[in-house]
Amino acid sequence: MTVIKVSAPGKIHLIGDHSVVYGEPAIIASIGLRCYAIAEESDRIIVNDRQINSGKFGVKEAIEFSTEMENLWSYGSQKNDFSELFQAMKSDSMSFKKAAIGKILKTLKIDSGAKLTLSSDIPSHVGGMGSSAAFAIVITKAIAELNAKRLSLEKINEIAYGIEKLQHGNPSGGDNTTCCYGGLIWFKKASPSNIIIPLKNEIPYTLEDFVMVNAGKRAKTTGELVQHVRNLPDGYRSPRIKKLGECAWEMRSALKARDFKSVKDLMNIAQQNLSELGVSTKKIDEITGVVRSIGGGAKLSGAGGGGMVLCYHDDKAKMAKAIKELGYTPIETRLGVEGARTEER
Ligand code: MEV
Repeated sequence: MTVIKVSAPGKIHLIGDHSVVYGEPAIIASIGLRCYAIAEESDRIIVNDRQINSGKFGVKEAIEFSTEMENLWSYGSQKNDFSELFQAMKSDSMSFKKAAIGKILKTLKIDSGAKLTLSSDIPSHVGGMGSSAAFAIVITKAIAELNAKRLSLEKINEIAYGIEKLQHGNPSGGDNTTCCYGGLIWFKKASPSNIIIPLKNEIPYTLEDFVMVNAGKRAKTTGELVQHVRNLPDGYRSPRIKKLGECAWEMRSALKARDFKSVKDLMNIAQQNLSELGVSTKKIDEITGVVRSIGGGAKLSGAGGGGMVLCYHDDKAKMAKAIKELGYTPIETRLGVEGARTEER
Protein backbone atom coordinates (compact mmCIF):
# COMPACT_ATOMS: atom_id res chain seq x y z
CA MET A 1 0.00 0.00 0.00
CA THR A 2 1.35 3.44 -0.96
CA VAL A 3 1.78 5.92 1.86
CA ILE A 4 3.11 9.43 1.22
CA LYS A 5 4.16 11.99 3.80
CA VAL A 6 4.87 15.60 2.83
CA SER A 7 5.29 18.91 4.61
CA ALA A 8 5.44 22.65 3.96
CA PRO A 9 6.36 25.59 6.21
CA GLY A 10 4.21 28.51 7.29
CA LYS A 11 5.25 32.07 6.45
CA ILE A 12 5.56 35.54 7.89
CA HIS A 13 5.52 38.86 6.04
CA LEU A 14 8.55 41.04 6.71
CA ILE A 15 6.85 43.75 4.65
CA GLY A 16 4.22 44.19 1.92
CA ASP A 17 1.12 42.86 3.70
CA HIS A 18 -2.05 43.98 1.85
CA SER A 19 -0.14 46.22 -0.59
CA VAL A 20 1.01 43.02 -2.34
CA VAL A 21 -2.62 42.42 -3.37
CA TYR A 22 -2.38 45.67 -5.42
CA GLY A 23 0.80 44.72 -7.27
CA GLU A 24 3.33 46.18 -4.84
CA PRO A 25 6.21 43.92 -3.79
CA ALA A 26 6.45 41.98 -0.54
CA ILE A 27 9.27 40.23 1.33
CA ILE A 28 8.01 37.04 2.90
CA ALA A 29 9.96 34.46 4.91
CA SER A 30 9.09 30.82 5.48
CA ILE A 31 9.07 29.93 9.20
CA GLY A 32 10.23 26.91 11.17
CA LEU A 33 6.67 25.72 11.86
CA ARG A 34 5.38 23.15 9.35
CA CYS A 35 2.13 21.60 8.16
CA TYR A 36 2.19 17.83 7.42
CA ALA A 37 -0.01 15.54 5.34
CA ILE A 38 0.07 11.75 5.14
CA ALA A 39 -1.83 10.33 2.17
CA GLU A 40 -2.95 6.71 1.85
CA GLU A 41 -5.08 4.94 -0.71
CA SER A 42 -8.85 4.94 -0.15
CA ASP A 43 -12.00 4.76 -2.28
CA ARG A 44 -13.44 7.88 -0.59
CA ILE A 45 -11.90 11.05 0.75
CA ILE A 46 -11.23 10.68 4.45
CA VAL A 47 -9.73 13.65 6.26
CA ASN A 48 -8.28 13.17 9.72
CA ASP A 49 -7.22 16.54 10.96
CA ARG A 50 -5.37 16.50 14.26
CA GLN A 51 -5.84 20.23 14.72
CA ILE A 52 -9.34 21.11 13.56
CA ASN A 53 -11.98 18.75 12.27
CA SER A 54 -12.25 15.45 10.47
CA GLY A 55 -14.76 14.23 7.90
CA LYS A 56 -15.50 11.92 4.96
CA PHE A 57 -16.94 12.60 1.53
CA GLY A 58 -17.06 11.11 -1.94
CA VAL A 59 -14.75 12.00 -4.82
CA LYS A 60 -17.67 13.16 -7.02
CA GLU A 61 -19.14 15.22 -4.17
CA ALA A 62 -15.79 17.01 -3.67
CA ILE A 63 -15.36 17.74 -7.38
CA GLU A 64 -18.92 19.06 -7.70
CA PHE A 65 -18.53 21.22 -4.60
CA SER A 66 -15.27 22.72 -5.87
CA THR A 67 -16.99 23.57 -9.19
CA GLU A 68 -19.82 25.29 -7.29
CA MET A 69 -17.28 27.30 -5.27
CA GLU A 70 -15.37 28.22 -8.44
CA ASN A 71 -18.60 29.53 -9.93
CA LEU A 72 -19.18 31.62 -6.81
CA TRP A 73 -15.59 32.85 -7.11
CA SER A 74 -16.19 33.98 -10.74
CA TYR A 75 -19.38 35.74 -9.68
CA GLY A 76 -17.52 37.46 -6.80
CA SER A 77 -14.69 38.44 -9.10
CA GLN A 78 -17.12 40.16 -11.49
CA LYS A 79 -18.74 42.07 -8.62
CA ASN A 80 -15.44 42.70 -6.80
CA ASP A 81 -17.15 41.27 -3.74
CA PHE A 82 -16.62 37.72 -2.53
CA SER A 83 -19.06 37.77 0.42
CA GLU A 84 -21.26 35.01 -1.05
CA LEU A 85 -18.25 32.76 -1.58
CA PHE A 86 -17.04 33.44 1.97
CA GLN A 87 -20.51 32.66 3.32
CA ALA A 88 -20.65 29.36 1.43
CA MET A 89 -17.16 28.41 2.56
CA LYS A 90 -18.15 28.99 6.18
CA SER A 91 -21.41 27.01 5.85
CA ASP A 92 -19.87 23.74 6.99
CA SER A 93 -16.63 23.01 8.81
CA MET A 94 -15.41 20.75 5.97
CA SER A 95 -16.21 23.19 3.14
CA PHE A 96 -12.70 24.50 2.59
CA LYS A 97 -11.14 21.03 2.63
CA LYS A 98 -13.83 19.64 0.34
CA ALA A 99 -13.44 22.48 -2.17
CA ALA A 100 -9.64 22.26 -2.04
CA ILE A 101 -9.47 18.50 -2.48
CA GLY A 102 -12.12 18.58 -5.21
CA LYS A 103 -10.09 21.19 -7.08
CA ILE A 104 -6.92 19.09 -6.90
CA LEU A 105 -8.71 15.93 -8.08
CA LYS A 106 -10.32 17.81 -10.96
CA THR A 107 -7.13 19.60 -12.04
CA LEU A 108 -5.04 16.42 -11.93
CA LYS A 109 -7.82 14.27 -13.44
CA ILE A 110 -7.77 11.85 -10.50
CA ASP A 111 -10.90 9.84 -9.78
CA SER A 112 -9.77 7.82 -6.79
CA GLY A 113 -10.02 8.82 -3.13
CA ALA A 114 -7.39 9.34 -0.46
CA LYS A 115 -7.14 9.05 3.28
CA LEU A 116 -5.43 12.25 4.43
CA THR A 117 -4.02 12.68 7.91
CA LEU A 118 -3.18 16.30 8.57
CA SER A 119 -1.20 17.79 11.39
CA SER A 120 0.42 21.16 11.83
CA ASP A 121 2.77 23.10 14.06
CA ILE A 122 1.09 26.25 12.67
CA PRO A 123 -1.93 27.04 14.83
CA SER A 124 -4.77 27.55 12.33
CA HIS A 125 -6.71 29.79 14.73
CA VAL A 126 -3.81 32.29 14.74
CA GLY A 127 -3.72 34.32 11.57
CA GLY A 128 -0.71 35.65 9.71
CA MET A 129 1.34 32.46 9.52
CA GLY A 130 0.05 31.02 6.26
CA SER A 131 -1.77 28.02 7.74
CA SER A 132 -4.22 27.80 4.81
CA ALA A 133 -1.45 28.26 2.23
CA ALA A 134 0.72 25.56 3.80
CA PHE A 135 -2.32 23.28 3.89
CA ALA A 136 -3.05 23.95 0.20
CA ILE A 137 0.55 23.09 -0.69
CA VAL A 138 0.74 19.86 1.32
CA ILE A 139 -2.55 18.37 0.18
CA THR A 140 -1.74 19.16 -3.46
CA LYS A 141 1.68 17.52 -3.17
CA ALA A 142 0.37 14.56 -1.13
CA ILE A 143 -2.54 13.73 -3.44
CA ALA A 144 -0.35 14.11 -6.55
CA GLU A 145 2.38 11.83 -5.18
CA LEU A 146 -0.13 9.26 -3.96
CA ASN A 147 -1.26 9.03 -7.58
CA ALA A 148 2.31 8.78 -8.90
CA LYS A 149 2.26 12.33 -10.31
CA ARG A 150 5.52 14.15 -9.67
CA LEU A 151 4.59 17.79 -9.97
CA SER A 152 7.08 20.64 -10.20
CA LEU A 153 7.02 23.19 -7.37
CA GLU A 154 5.67 25.63 -9.95
CA LYS A 155 2.67 23.40 -10.69
CA ILE A 156 2.02 22.69 -6.98
CA ASN A 157 2.12 26.43 -6.35
CA GLU A 158 -0.29 27.13 -9.21
CA ILE A 159 -2.87 24.63 -7.92
CA ALA A 160 -2.43 25.87 -4.33
CA TYR A 161 -3.02 29.44 -5.51
CA GLY A 162 -6.35 28.32 -7.02
CA ILE A 163 -7.26 26.81 -3.64
CA GLU A 164 -6.24 29.98 -1.81
CA LYS A 165 -8.56 31.96 -4.10
CA LEU A 166 -11.50 29.82 -3.01
CA GLN A 167 -10.63 30.56 0.61
CA HIS A 168 -9.61 34.23 0.40
CA GLY A 169 -11.23 35.61 -2.78
CA ASN A 170 -8.44 37.59 -4.38
CA PRO A 171 -5.20 36.83 -2.53
CA SER A 172 -1.86 37.90 -3.97
CA GLY A 173 -0.40 34.38 -4.09
CA GLY A 174 2.54 35.45 -1.94
CA ASP A 175 1.63 33.14 0.97
CA ASN A 176 1.40 29.92 -1.08
CA THR A 177 4.53 30.87 -3.04
CA THR A 178 6.59 31.25 0.14
CA CYS A 179 5.18 28.08 1.72
CA CYS A 180 5.96 26.22 -1.51
CA TYR A 181 9.49 27.45 -2.32
CA GLY A 182 10.62 28.31 1.24
CA GLY A 183 13.45 30.76 2.02
CA LEU A 184 13.17 34.51 1.88
CA ILE A 185 11.07 35.53 -1.13
CA TRP A 186 10.62 38.78 -3.03
CA PHE A 187 7.09 38.46 -4.39
CA LYS A 188 5.25 40.74 -6.78
CA LYS A 189 1.87 39.98 -8.29
CA ALA A 190 2.19 40.58 -12.03
CA SER A 191 0.73 39.60 -15.36
CA PRO A 192 1.20 37.23 -17.18
CA SER A 193 3.09 35.69 -14.26
CA ASN A 194 4.06 36.72 -10.76
CA ILE A 195 7.61 37.85 -10.01
CA ILE A 196 9.20 35.44 -7.54
CA ILE A 197 12.81 36.10 -6.56
CA PRO A 198 14.48 33.99 -3.88
CA LEU A 199 16.66 36.44 -1.92
CA LYS A 200 19.24 33.93 -0.70
CA ASN A 201 22.06 35.31 -2.87
CA GLU A 202 21.32 38.91 -1.98
CA ILE A 203 20.70 38.16 1.70
CA PRO A 204 22.84 35.09 2.40
CA TYR A 205 22.85 35.35 6.20
CA THR A 206 20.25 34.06 8.70
CA LEU A 207 17.79 36.62 9.97
CA GLU A 208 18.03 36.78 13.73
CA ASP A 209 16.68 38.95 16.53
CA PHE A 210 13.10 38.63 15.25
CA VAL A 211 10.32 37.16 17.37
CA MET A 212 6.63 36.62 16.73
CA VAL A 213 3.88 37.50 19.21
CA ASN A 214 0.32 36.25 19.06
CA ALA A 215 -2.07 39.20 19.23
CA GLY A 216 -5.10 36.93 19.53
CA LYS A 217 -7.77 35.26 17.47
CA ARG A 218 -9.02 37.20 14.49
CA ALA A 219 -12.67 38.15 14.26
CA LYS A 220 -12.43 38.27 10.46
CA THR A 221 -10.85 35.96 7.90
CA THR A 222 -8.01 36.99 5.57
CA GLY A 223 -10.51 37.27 2.71
CA GLU A 224 -12.77 39.57 4.74
CA LEU A 225 -9.84 41.77 5.80
CA VAL A 226 -8.63 42.04 2.19
CA GLN A 227 -12.21 42.93 1.22
CA HIS A 228 -12.29 45.58 3.97
CA VAL A 229 -9.20 47.28 2.49
CA ARG A 230 -10.68 47.01 -1.01
CA ASN A 231 -13.86 48.74 0.17
CA LEU A 232 -11.93 51.82 1.37
CA PRO A 233 -12.19 54.87 -0.93
CA ASP A 234 -9.51 54.71 -3.59
CA GLY A 235 -8.11 58.14 -2.71
CA TYR A 236 -7.57 57.07 0.89
CA ARG A 237 -6.26 53.55 0.21
CA SER A 238 -3.90 54.21 -2.71
CA PRO A 239 -1.29 56.50 -1.05
CA ARG A 240 -0.96 54.06 1.86
CA ILE A 241 -0.60 51.07 -0.46
CA LYS A 242 2.03 52.99 -2.44
CA LYS A 243 3.92 53.86 0.75
CA LEU A 244 3.92 50.18 1.79
CA GLY A 245 5.33 49.29 -1.63
CA GLU A 246 8.14 51.85 -1.23
CA CYS A 247 8.89 50.37 2.21
CA ALA A 248 9.33 46.93 0.60
CA TRP A 249 11.91 48.26 -1.88
CA GLU A 250 13.76 50.06 0.90
CA MET A 251 13.62 46.99 3.14
CA ARG A 252 15.24 44.90 0.40
CA SER A 253 18.16 47.37 0.19
CA ALA A 254 18.40 47.60 3.99
CA LEU A 255 18.51 43.81 4.41
CA LYS A 256 21.14 43.56 1.69
CA ALA A 257 23.24 46.17 3.49
CA ARG A 258 22.54 44.56 6.92
CA ASP A 259 21.19 47.95 7.96
CA PHE A 260 18.86 46.87 10.75
CA LYS A 261 18.26 50.42 11.96
CA SER A 262 16.43 51.00 8.65
CA VAL A 263 14.76 47.57 8.81
CA LYS A 264 13.11 48.40 12.13
CA ASP A 265 12.16 51.92 11.04
CA LEU A 266 10.53 50.47 7.93
CA MET A 267 8.61 47.94 10.04
CA ASN A 268 7.26 50.80 12.14
CA ILE A 269 6.27 52.84 9.06
CA ALA A 270 4.53 49.76 7.64
CA GLN A 271 2.62 49.24 10.89
CA GLN A 272 1.48 52.89 10.84
CA ASN A 273 0.15 52.52 7.29
CA LEU A 274 -1.50 49.14 7.97
CA SER A 275 -3.15 50.65 11.03
CA GLU A 276 -4.48 53.51 8.88
CA LEU A 277 -5.91 50.89 6.51
CA GLY A 278 -7.95 49.63 9.50
CA VAL A 279 -6.39 46.18 9.92
CA SER A 280 -4.65 46.70 13.25
CA THR A 281 -6.28 46.03 16.64
CA LYS A 282 -5.86 47.29 20.21
CA LYS A 283 -3.67 44.31 21.07
CA ILE A 284 -1.50 44.75 17.98
CA ASP A 285 -1.12 48.45 18.80
CA GLU A 286 -0.18 47.55 22.37
CA ILE A 287 2.52 45.05 21.31
CA THR A 288 3.94 47.17 18.49
CA GLY A 289 3.84 50.25 20.78
CA VAL A 290 5.93 48.66 23.51
CA VAL A 291 8.55 47.31 21.06
CA ARG A 292 8.77 50.74 19.42
CA SER A 293 9.08 52.46 22.80
CA ILE A 294 12.27 50.52 23.61
CA GLY A 295 13.78 51.29 20.19
CA GLY A 296 12.67 48.24 18.19
CA GLY A 297 10.50 47.64 15.14
CA ALA A 298 7.17 45.80 15.07
CA LYS A 299 4.31 45.26 12.68
CA LEU A 300 1.35 43.00 12.18
CA SER A 301 1.94 40.16 9.77
CA GLY A 302 -0.47 39.01 7.08
CA ALA A 303 -4.02 40.24 7.03
CA GLY A 304 -4.05 41.61 10.61
CA GLY A 305 -7.23 41.93 12.67
CA GLY A 306 -5.33 39.93 15.33
CA GLY A 307 -2.90 37.12 14.55
CA MET A 308 0.86 37.32 14.52
CA VAL A 309 2.97 40.41 15.12
CA LEU A 310 6.57 40.39 13.90
CA CYS A 311 8.99 42.17 16.24
CA TYR A 312 12.67 43.09 15.87
CA HIS A 313 15.20 44.51 18.31
CA ASP A 314 18.99 44.27 18.24
CA ASP A 315 18.78 43.47 21.96
CA LYS A 316 16.45 40.48 21.71
CA ALA A 317 16.52 39.73 25.46
CA LYS A 318 15.41 43.27 26.26
CA MET A 319 12.57 42.99 23.74
CA ALA A 320 11.49 39.59 25.10
CA LYS A 321 11.38 41.03 28.62
CA ALA A 322 9.24 44.00 27.54
CA ILE A 323 6.82 41.70 25.66
CA LYS A 324 6.53 39.33 28.64
CA GLU A 325 5.89 42.25 31.02
CA LEU A 326 2.97 43.21 28.80
CA GLY A 327 1.54 39.70 29.31
CA TYR A 328 2.46 38.17 25.93
CA THR A 329 4.81 35.35 24.98
CA PRO A 330 7.54 35.98 22.40
CA ILE A 331 7.72 33.05 19.97
CA GLU A 332 11.12 32.20 18.52
CA THR A 333 11.23 30.66 15.08
CA ARG A 334 13.76 30.14 12.34
CA LEU A 335 13.14 32.30 9.25
CA GLY A 336 13.83 31.22 5.67
CA VAL A 337 13.54 27.43 6.11
CA GLU A 338 13.15 24.81 3.35
CA GLY A 339 9.88 24.81 1.39
CA ALA A 340 7.62 21.89 0.44
CA ARG A 341 9.28 18.52 0.76
CA THR A 342 8.60 14.80 0.93
CA GLU A 343 9.22 13.42 4.41
CA GLU A 344 10.71 10.08 5.37
CA ARG A 345 8.04 7.72 6.73
C1 MEV B 1 -2.19 37.47 3.97
O1 MEV B 1 -1.33 36.56 4.64
C2 MEV B 1 -1.42 38.57 3.31
C3 MEV B 1 -2.26 39.61 2.59
O2 MEV B 1 -1.34 40.51 1.96
C4 MEV B 1 -3.18 39.02 1.57
C5 MEV B 1 -2.45 38.43 0.37
O3 MEV B 1 -1.28 38.68 0.13
O4 MEV B 1 -3.14 37.71 -0.36
C6 MEV B 1 -3.09 40.43 3.56
